[in-house]
Amino acid sequence: MKKEKIIVTGGAGYIGAHTAVELLQSDYEVVIVDNLVNSSKSVLSGIAEITGKQPAFEELDLTHAGKTNPFFHKHRDAKAVIHFAALKAVGESTRLPILYYKNNIGSLLNVMEAMKEEQIPHFIFSSSATVYGQPESLPVTELAPVQPASSPYGSTKQMAEVIIRDTVKTGNQPASAISLRYFNPIGAHPSALIGELPSGVPNNLMPFITQTAAGVRKELKVFGRDYQTSDGTAIRDYIHVTDLARAHVIALERLLKGKNQAAYEVFNLGTGKGFSVLEVIHSFEKSTGVKLNYSFTDRRRGDVESLYASTELANKELGWKAECTLDEMTLSAWNWEKKLRNLQ
Ligand code: NAD
Ligand code: UD1
Repeated sequence: MKKEKIIVTGGAGYIGAHTAVELLQSDYEVVIVDNLVNSSKSVLSGIAEITGKQPAFEELDLTHAGKTNPFFHKHRDAKAVIHFAALKAVGESTRLPILYYKNNIGSLLNVMEAMKEEQIPHFIFSSSATVYGQPESLPVTELAPVQPASSPYGSTKQMAEVIIRDTVKTGNQPASAISLRYFNPIGAHPSALIGELPSGVPNNLMPFITQTAAGVRKELKVFGRDYQTSDGTAIRDYIHVTDLARAHVIALERLLKGKNQAAYEVFNLGTGKGFSVLEVIHSFEKSTGVKLNYSFTDRRRGDVESLYASTELANKELGWKAECTLDEMTLSAWNWEKKLRNLQ
């Protein structure tokens, strides 16, 4: 039997599409809304092929209130919104801050206003570990202070969390919300039918690795080898996108069943384990058997040395734990890249 209707904004994107798959496989009715600014409609056939179900799809820009409101009115029977839609390129956000504030904050405000109007009760938001900056102690817990953001993109996540917290406090709809702070999502669905589609030169490590291995990029530059870490390269908490997607379904069910401890909650989503850039490269080479061309260069501005999650709260409250190993993550990313480029 079909369960509740869930609106997935940005559902044609990387994490949204993987979450749509998990939702459909758990029998939720899924409505994806996306303006395709950083994604392609072809992802919908990937979702349908994996699940055997076709999600509803509407192409629209959520910063446009005149279009957002009728969309929400049409889907006023939805029980929750999972809000992925945002621009996410850190470097671009420093050049185009107004675009980022308009898009990420503007769309959030429109969505939350429409939810109030249409009495849609539950909200889940894609936040980021970037809100922690370089924390004083690791693994970082949800109680660590939010640090000044190092980019307008990071600011939009911090502002969004405040906006959601304050809105939920009013007692209007949405009455309950969860912000999920993702660490470093990588990898692709094991079917290789959906995955990350970075536009232009990737900023993030994993797509840069797979594109280098595929011969699209000449060489990976490792940013910094003088960090105070075991091999001198920076440490992050990489999490498989399917583990991340699964956490959204669990968070959703927590809200739908009223199991949340507070009207507004925040959870870290990571594995709790930190890996250095070199460890990721070695995992990629081991899991795929492909040798990677790389060299070292200076640190990237704005990068922190080491960041990994305390997953205790998510383990205890959500009953969720990331399951995939780093080798599984790097292999699935490679299988997706190969499929995209028709490589053997
Ligand atoms: P993505 O770019 O693949 O997906 C975002 C989707 O939102 C895209 O399909 C895009 O077309 C859509 N979108 C953007 N602005 C829109 C608008 N105004 N109206 C309608 N649709 C719009 O990114 P992703 O990696 O899937 O990230 C999803 C969310 O998770 C984002 O909020 C991102 O900031 C957050 N996040 C991502 C990461 C990461 O490493 N990928 C880490 C932390 C947080
Ligand atoms: C970055 C963003 C963060 C955002 C996240 C997900 C910055 C400063 N932070 O996190 O706000 O939430 O992406 O989109 O941009 N690396 C290389 N060579 C490369 C690329 C990356 O050595 O070509 C290194 C980086 O220095 C870092 C690690 O790989 O140590 C991971 O980088 P990346 O994938 O960009 O993620 P973050 O910087 O952690």
